[in-house]
Order: sequence, then structure tokens, then C-alpha cells
Amino acid sequence: MTAQILDGKAIAAEIREELKERVNTRVKKGLRKPGLAVVLVGENPASQVYVNSKCKQSVEVGIESFSHKLPDTTSQDVLITLIDELNADERVDGILVQLPLPDHIEDEAVLERIAPAKDVDGFHPYNMGRLAINMPTLRPCTPRGVMTMLEKTGIPLRGKNAVVIGASKIVGMPMALELTNVRATVTICHSATQDLEAKVREADIVVAGVGIPNFVPGDWIKDGAIVIDVGINRLDDGSLCGDVDFATAKEKASWITPVPGGVGPMTIATLLNNAVDIAEQKDA
Ligand code: GUN
Repeated sequence: MTAQILDGKAIAAEIREELKERVNTRVKKGLRKPGLAVVLVGENPASQVYVNSKCKQSVEVGIESFSHKLPDTTSQDVLITLIDELNADERVDGILVQLPLPDHIEDEAVLERIAPAKDVDGFHPYNMGRLAINMPTLRPCTPRGVMTMLEKTGIPLRGKNAVVIGASKIVGMPMALELTNVRATVTICHSATQDLEAKVREADIVVAGVGIPNFVPGDWIKDGAIVIDVGINRLDDGSLCGDVDFATAKEKASWITPVPGGVGPMTIATLLNNAVDIAEQKDA
């Protein structure tokens, strides 16, 4: 079997077109544009690229972008004070703090300070907790984007065996919750998992988010499985590759996401979608 490609770039472009329409409709009604604040601390090169894309694409769909770039010497107190200001700012619907933060700043303290109603990344314990009891409010962007891609395959997910590789708060854990909420049977694998290969071989859906180039060999993939590769890894020659060996996995899977052009563009489109959702709900 040769897999069909789940074209995240194309689906993300469709989402952005829909968002432009939704923003236009608001503005025509005399409502203000949705506002998204993006906070970057330090100079992590990958984070700089992501943050620039987030700000640029926000503006393209008509969202007002408030960019805050702080030096990596910024103290946790100064960052928390900025969050408090953004929480109080009426023009700001969504607040995003790009991760990872420098080591001297405690992620959880910062993420928990964001008002849950403005938590456009869905990382606040309130929003994570709601997802865990299948009463979702703001849903983390990458897993929500993956669910949109899975819907595009038209394959029912109920009762399927899903294996999520990686248990991070950004990808693995909320991904497992999303898949459980549609009644897939989910196995979460992580660094202490024994016999990962046997688990992947049983999976109808594989979601890999570990950040190790070509970590999952294609011959582990069950015939006809859906393969979602969340990894974006840069190789020494400058090229990008995922966590799954694409060339061999595409010969086994029914659907597969490419890297680049798969999950990456969906994460940003979903972020913008969350920001527009917040603004619309406020004015509803
Ligand atoms: N770092 C890597 N992915 C993400 C994400 O989705 N949101 C934030 N805030 N930081 C990230």
C-alpha cells in the first residue's frame, strides 16, 4: 500500500481562508479585530522562527498581533507582570508564551498565570482538566490540529487502537485525551515504555512526537495505519525530517503526514482558530 498524503499545508490554508471570513464578518459588524499576544523570552532560533510565523499569519487573517520579545535574562517576576498586564488588556483575546522558557523560569507558574479564558494554547490546568473530562474549552493547538487532519481522512476513529509516542504536555498528553474523547483506545508511550515496537505494530493510528529523527522505522507500521508525525527535526545537512521514517512508512500506511508541510502548519492555523473562537465567544 502507498499512503495518501495528509497535506497539512493545504488544510491550514483552507482554515486561514475561513478565519479571514470570520474576522471580516466581525469587523463589518463594527466589532474589533481579535487580538493575539505572543511572548518570546530569549533567542532560541527555532522559537524565533515559530513566533515570527505566528505573528505574520495572525496579521494575514486579520488578527491584531501584539508581539513581546524579551531578553533571556528576564526574571520570572517581570514575565508574570507582563502576563498580568495582558490579562487585563481588553484588546488581547489570546495570550501565548512560547516554550521552552529559559531554565531559570518555571513554565508551570507562568502558564498558570494566564487567564484561562485567554489561554489560546490550552495549556492552563483549567483547560487541560476540561479536556480530560471531555468538556473541552480551549484545546492545545497541535492535538486539535491533528484531530482536524484525522477528520479529513473520513476514517471513523471510534474503537481504533491509537499509539501516542511521547507524553509531553504540549503534544502527547492532550493528544491522548483528544483521541480518548472520540473513543479510540489509546496507549501513551514514553521513555520508560517497554517494547515500543510491539505496541506500534498493533496501532491503527500512530502519533509520534518525540523529537528524534526517524525514531520509528517504517516496517513497524501496521498495514493501512494512519501515521501522524509531529516531529520536526533538523539534520546536519540542514534538511528537515520527522520522527517516523517517511520513505518506508508511506509504503505501509493508508494516510501519512509529511515533514515539513504536515502537522506544523496545522498547529499555527489552529492557534489562529483558537484566537478567533475566543473573540467570538466574548461578543456572543
Ligand atoms: N513550543 C513548541 N510548540 C509550542 C506550542 O504549541 N505553543 C507554545 N506556546 N510553545 C511551543
